[in-house]
Amino acid sequence: MFEHNVGAESNPVNLAEYARLARKRAEPSAWDFIAGGSDDERTLAANRAAFERWTLRPRILSGRDTVDVSVPLFGRTLASPLLVAPIGYQGLAHPAAEVATVQGAGAAHTAMVVSTMSNRTLEDLARAASAPLWFQLYCLKDPELTLSLVRRAESAGYEALVITVDMPRMGRRERDLRNGFALPAHLRPSNLLMEASPELHRSQQGTSGVALHVGQLFDAALSWSTVERLKQQTALPVLLKGVLTREDAQRAASVGIDGIIVSNHGGRQLDGAPASLDVLPEVVEGAGGRCRILLDGGIRRGTDVLKARALGADAVLIGRPIMWGLIARGAEGVTDVLRLLRAELEQALALCGQSRWTEIDRSLVALAPPCG
Ligand code: FNR
Repeated sequence: MFEHNVGAESNPVNLAEYARLARKRAEPSAWDFIAGGSDDERTLAANRAAFERWTLRPRILSGRDTVDVSVPLFGRTLASPLLVAPIGYQGLAHPAAEVATVQGAGAAHTAMVVSTMSNRTLEDLARAASAPLWFQLYCLKDPELTLSLVRRAESAGYEALVITVDMPRMGRRERDLRNGFALPAHLRPSNLLMEASPELHRSQQGTSGVALHVGQLFDAALSWSTVERLKQQTALPVLLKGVLTREDAQRAASVGIDGIIVSNHGGRQLDGAPASLDVLPEVVEGAGGRCRILLDGGIRRGTDVLKARALGADAVLIGRPIMWGLIARGAEGVTDVLRLLRAELEQALALCGQSRWTEIDRSLVALAPPCG
């Protein structure tokens, strides 16, 4: 489905071709770390399959010849509804790591969410930025350390705080277990080095690193009270990333959370969790207009972005395809991936007879007839 139109690879014309190019260039176990999901990778596959179940309902003779995909979000207008998803350890994909991604996103006028687990400090990344940055927070066992990350993000000019709530412990990524995947020793979680214990540093040597960081540092008992406290401690808009049910959306809205990211962590956490797109409508309903709703997981085409919008997303985040661009061509590859996706989105919008992202509603999609 996603890979059916894949041709010459030297000059990719779509994201699937970037995937092919990147796969050839990447070190195989790093590729598996990036590409893989947890357990049987059912949720990973479901994210893609969900988009195929919807068709678009184009309207004809609209008389419109312009498209506007800008989106007002948290007091600022973003140039497009695409954001770069938080991805840790980008040094696995390119020597310049997140610096290249920030530069590439900036050149494409695209906002980026910087991971707590980046290989460059959040301050270095803010200096390299020319588009808005948001900070993705993993809540740590030590609340003071967690708060210090928030304060650093505020001082560096980050515009929103994304608290990831679907990783109290790490999903079992069997590709990594099979490969005996280990983070290269030079790839450190730079944001935490000045704060974390020297043991963290030492214990990284010779182990997979990632699971160790999660186990040693992350708050496995993360709860609503932590989130509510953080909301009170910062003036930044706060989003929860990893909401998949109406009930949790209702609760998030009732405690004043500003935004929800409907996400299953790209199929890397709970296998058997639903596809993000499938639960988008119930999350929108649960939030009842009180939170902005974003979605990630499986977006590979402009038409996917449009379907997410029609089902209620204000904006979307792109994960692995950004890594494909980064592996294949560094910052330029990131820019190109984002430009391709935006061009596809604008094209699809126009062909649907629409001109504005903000005006798209549920009438643009219908369930596809069952095949066979
Ligand atoms: C992630 N994701 C992630 N999420 C997060 O909140 N903090 C993080 O540090 C990371 N790190 C990370 C590393 C890698 C290699 C991947 C593939 C993913 C999840 C990410 O933000 C996003 O939810 C998914 O990647 C979206 O799905 P797609 O676009 O990759 O299908």
